[in-house]
Amino acid sequence: MNAVLLGYGTVGKGVEILCKNVKELDLKQVFVLPEYEDLPYFSNDGEGMVTREDIDIVFECLSGTEPSNTLITLALEHGKHVITSNKATVSPNLERYVDIAKRTGGSIQIEASVAGGIPFLDAILKLQKLEPIRGYQGIFNGTSNYILDQMQKNGMELSVALKQAQSMGYAEADPTNDIEGIDVFYKTNITNMLAYNTKNDTLRKPIGITRLNTTDIQLAKENGKVIRHIAVSKQQDCAFASIIAPAFLHQGHYLANVPDNYNAQLIFADSFDYLGYFGQGAGQLATAQAMLANAIDTIEGRERMIVLDQEKKIQEDLLKMDWIV
Ligand code: HSE
Repeated sequence: MNAVLLGYGTVGKGVEILCKNVKELDLKQVFVLPEYEDLPYFSNDGEGMVTREDIDIVFECLSGTEPSNTLITLALEHGKHVITSNKATVSPNLERYVDIAKRTGGSIQIEASVAGGIPFLDAILKLQKLEPIRGYQGIFNGTSNYILDQMQKNGMELSVALKQAQSMGYAEADPTNDIEGIDVFYKTNITNMLAYNTKNDTLRKPIGITRLNTTDIQLAKENGKVIRHIAVSKQQDCAFASIIAPAFLHQGHYLANVPDNYNAQLIFADSFDYLGYFGQGAGQLATAQAMLANAIDTIEGRERMIVLDQEKKIQEDLLKMDWIV
């Protein structure tokens, strides 16, 4: 199959590297900003690239919502298989992308948009077809986890740890979304749509890690707790609700001992009670391999179709749910 790549940042470069390992895949062109325009393999004509007749797969790893939304929409309208890591675009538009793909015979595959290298959405998509997912909890932002780890283990200032996370390629170009919980908001919204087979919902405003200070760190230590930035989501009585916030976890909790930029999740369902995932949720090759896994599924004709066909209401009374994690 022939592919084009939109975006040549941390993840895009990782996709280019890993494409060389898949002999059935030929990466024809890369959409980049003007500074690379002198190289023949690169192009500034994104619209021309995604509508090329000989192209089957469009890898999209731009940041932010434009031009990515325009290019994904155009690619899907032309029946392409779009594989994206871009949660900021997928979160508000997934329902529309799914509708277009259904009409044109294309597909939208989004494994890399949530939890980077962990096949978390794949598990959610399969399980959701079998039984109701009771909920999930997890660490979904590698940057925040790295910062909290450094603050608690090494007494590092938030701003210093953030700079380190940026230099290691975990943080977004503008890291505000990482530390304010917006990145996790996108990921939780996407997960909820897939897990609960519902349409875009109105999640509560997330709470990030920016207001944590040395007193909080000290308090956690004195009480034998660990602070982690987590998302907790539950489905109950045909409604669901999610909370995104820093939490004090007891040291034996599955999510308490997740180091560095790692992510981890627990999925709850009746058949297995709970199931745990752990791995790199950010970073170049970790995220790129999730995109290539989607590409291999496409090449082998078994891409997972996303179906969003039920309306569910967010639980209005969050207090009715048990939020002890
Ligand atoms: N900035 C994100 C993170 C990248 O730190 O988790 C992966 O989505």
